[in-house]
Amino acid sequence: MLLIKEAFGEDFTWGVSTAAYQIEGAHNQGGKGLSIWDTFVKKKNKVFQNQNGDMACDFYNRYTQDLYLMHSLNIPNYRFSISWSRILPNGTGEINTEGIDFYNRLIDLSLELGITPWVTLYHWDLPDALERKGGWVNRDIKEWFGNYVSICVAHFGDRVKNWMILNEPMVFSAAGYFLGIHAPGRKGLDNFLAATHHAALAQAYGARVIKSTQKDSNVGTTFSCSHIEPFRMKEKDILAAKRADALLNRLFIEPLLGMGYPTEDIKILNRMERYMKQNDEKDVIFNMDFIGIQNYTREVIRHATFVPFLQAKIVSAKERKVEMTSMNWEIYPESIYHMLKKFNAYPNIPPLIITENGAAFPDQVENNKVDDPKRVKYLQHILEQVHRAKQEGVKVNGYFVWTFLDNFEWAEGYHPRFGLVYVDFQTQKRIVKSSGHWYADFLK
Ligand code: BGC
Repeated sequence: MLLIKEAFGEDFTWGVSTAAYQIEGAHNQGGKGLSIWDTFVKKKNKVFQNQNGDMACDFYNRYTQDLYLMHSLNIPNYRFSISWSRILPNGTGEINTEGIDFYNRLIDLSLELGITPWVTLYHWDLPDALERKGGWVNRDIKEWFGNYVSICVAHFGDRVKNWMILNEPMVFSAAGYFLGIHAPGRKGLDNFLAATHHAALAQAYGARVIKSTQKDSNVGTTFSCSHIEPFRMKEKDILAAKRADALLNRLFIEPLLGMGYPTEDIKILNRMERYMKQNDEKDVIFNMDFIGIQNYTREVIRHATFVPFLQAKIVSAKERKVEMTSMNWEIYPESIYHMLKKFNAYPNIPPLIITENGAAFPDQVENNKVDDPKRVKYLQHILEQVHRAKQEGVKVNGYFVWTFLDNFEWAEGYHPRFGLVYVDFQTQKRIVKSSGHWYADFLK
């Protein structure tokens, strides 16, 4: 089936997504303070080939040409994140006016080109000064974050209406504070539980801060999610899959909706109580205007006695010998359909927007062109699944491709290329891939 844009309705929001640390570079320009990613990448063997985002796509200096390129591809909405340490180099205290100016210029030019900005307030680059005070493990982060949010609303709220509070809190609390594979590289159950609860508190608080001053704002937050299936239809695997689902898909949405943490399925989450104060259960609730869901693949789960707390493990796409992307993620577009159905089934769920989805493939330049038929096919199949869910009554109102430019893919460095636009990181030359041209035609 070949879908056209009109099949999704006139009010459907189409766009592309990026994140500050992954594209901006200029890590020490314009008065910016260090973020936890600036310090994490300098530690040995944390990132593939010890690469870093010091330069990335140099978007800080090249945003003008990049926005013109975006405009030439008919992209009407742009989701980007603000780097907290560009605004507040120490996380709190003095405001860096050069940072404010940069985002002002970015917002102004977007609007001039007819591109609506969608701003993520936190996409994983915590000011390092705050990490030294405990980062997400310190409960004060709620106030630090609220202060930063209020500064962003005060400076940009006259032009920005669409806000996303956090990007994938489950990923930054688990990868950054439990497994230590993302910044700040901390480990342990207690760090994870504290970071999780404080992120849930900050998420609702940040939204309240925006709504208290900007009544007509459109406020959401974004969650990672993956369709989960048991490896075998045996009770042990089915139960393991249920626990994995609670962790990967339910941990943040349920408290936000007032359902509490999924302690029934993961007993160890009861230990979160030691970080909770009276009223916290209410304070983590917020009635968002939309929920951003971000889906890339599915996960197949089996029982694993020796995995602490969860007794569950992922059966990798490699082991299952299925078709994969450069991230070794299974290509499984139906996953997005299942996730839309799952989130939509919560009582009182606000409308859903797919704030990220995409795929990395080993793109090659030939004769100054990048032909990426696999990505085109992937995106088409995904849109068929989104359409299928919409036809069945799911309230899904938007779709943002991850991502506009090939960029710094966190611990994986530069080798997974997710962009619609190819970036030569030596010369900073951009080449629109065939998927970029396909999206432009689709959006025309
Ligand atoms: C993150 C992006 C990341 C993408 C692909 C999401 O988890 O929000 O920053 O690049 O997935 O891994």
